[in-house]
Amino acid sequence: MFDPAVFAARRDAYMQAIGKTGVAIVRSLPERLRNGDSYHLFRQVSDLVYLTGFVEPETTLVLRPGHDTERVIMFVRPRDPEMETWDGRRAGIEGAKARYGADAAYPAAELASKLGELIANSEELHYSLGLDDEMDLLVTHTIARLRKTEKRGKRPPRAVVDPRLALHELRLHKRPEELTAMRKAAAISSDAHVAAMRAGKPGSFEHELEALINYTFRKNGSEGPGYATIVGAGENATILHYIENRCAIADGDLVLVDAGCEYNHYTADITRTWPANGRFTDAQRRVYKIVLDCQIEAVAMVKPGITLDDIHNHCVKKLTEGMIALGLLSGTADERVADQSYRKFYMHGTSHWLGLDVHDVGAYTQGGKARPLEPGMVITVEPGLYIAHDAPDVPDALRGIGVRIEDDVLVTANGHEVLTAACPKSIEDIEAACRA
Ligand code: GLY
Ligand code: MN
Ligand code: MN
Repeated sequence: MFDPAVFAARRDAYMQAIGKTGVAIVRSLPERLRNGDSYHLFRQVSDLVYLTGFVEPETTLVLRPGHDTERVIMFVRPRDPEMETWDGRRAGIEGAKARYGADAAYPAAELASKLGELIANSEELHYSLGLDDEMDLLVTHTIARLRKTEKRGKRPPRAVVDPRLALHELRLHKRPEELTAMRKAAAISSDAHVAAMRAGKPGSFEHELEALINYTFRKNGSEGPGYATIVGAGENATILHYIENRCAIADGDLVLVDAGCEYNHYTADITRTWPANGRFTDAQRRVYKIVLDCQIEAVAMVKPGITLDDIHNHCVKKLTEGMIALGLLSGTADERVADQSYRKFYMHGTSHWLGLDVHDVGAYTQGGKARPLEPGMVITVEPGLYIAHDAPDVPDALRGIGVRIEDDVLVTANGHEVLTAACPKSIEDIEAACRA
């Protein structure tokens, strides 16, 4: 599973992109206290996962493409039998070199004293400012110290560059081994959605379904959810990021589940909405059909050259027509799009990049305009309609209905591949899965 050559190839591509006069620093984010002396489960920062596969905390990677022998430097937690007895195994200095491709490795505690030497005289320092105050301070102090040694031949980098420019462009274009992980994440996540459709009945609780979904993730070898699992029944479905998952599911409720697992650190992101009792009411069916038709059309648009704005604008138009047909808005679709009143019922974007992060990295615009899709990019397509229970001037039958349908879509040379196609979404397939 863990192939060092894959990570070496990624580092090479990144070093090629930053050039021989550049240097890059990529660092873990600090572990965070949860409460008392318990910490949140540690998840390695995605840039480090991408470049090293190294998942331990307190890790810093320094890349120096221009150096003859020591291009890949890692600072890691050293082996420590006593600490490892308490907190788990460490690769240590030797492991970083032998297994993770470091040309040189040092204890994490030596970073402050060695950093100046490593970044001196480079042109561009690729470093993500603003994520970790302590590391930002170390970088700025190191730069300040280097200013004082310029006369002796060690000057600071000329510029600090956001890694979004080079590294995140690489991450945006998925390689085959990344797509393998994403397909697996999609397959497991799809199974979890089907398990929830089968198990969820009037009288079940949202948290039972959350538990079943997260169990299905872990049972199938995923690391767990790529983001907090959302299970919203009834009017909870109209809260976009509802993660309390505490309520009982009533007869006649729609249940909106937004859940995706991480596999080898790549996440899926799927939303399905289904009737707890196995049959949509007429009102629910009308809303669902509008979102479904829109979603199918939007997915069909995905191909190289199209932009996310094209897809979103199409969805806004279709959903606004649907809102007028439902009696939620009046006038013409063009008028309601122009005055943005559709945003009362569709208030989020239609798509985002997907990869190691659920809202993955990569620029959305080029030259101030929405960028055209290219093969290898993975996006979500996730239109929805959300009719708050207390929305003014809406037909009573529609109050409290929330529907979102979300698939993960790979852009291919000629069109697209829906990575989450195995997850039921037609009215017939959804009702069948709920009754199974
Ligand atoms: N699950 C978060 C999203 O759909 O963007
Ligand atoms: Mn999404
Ligand atoms: Mn989602």
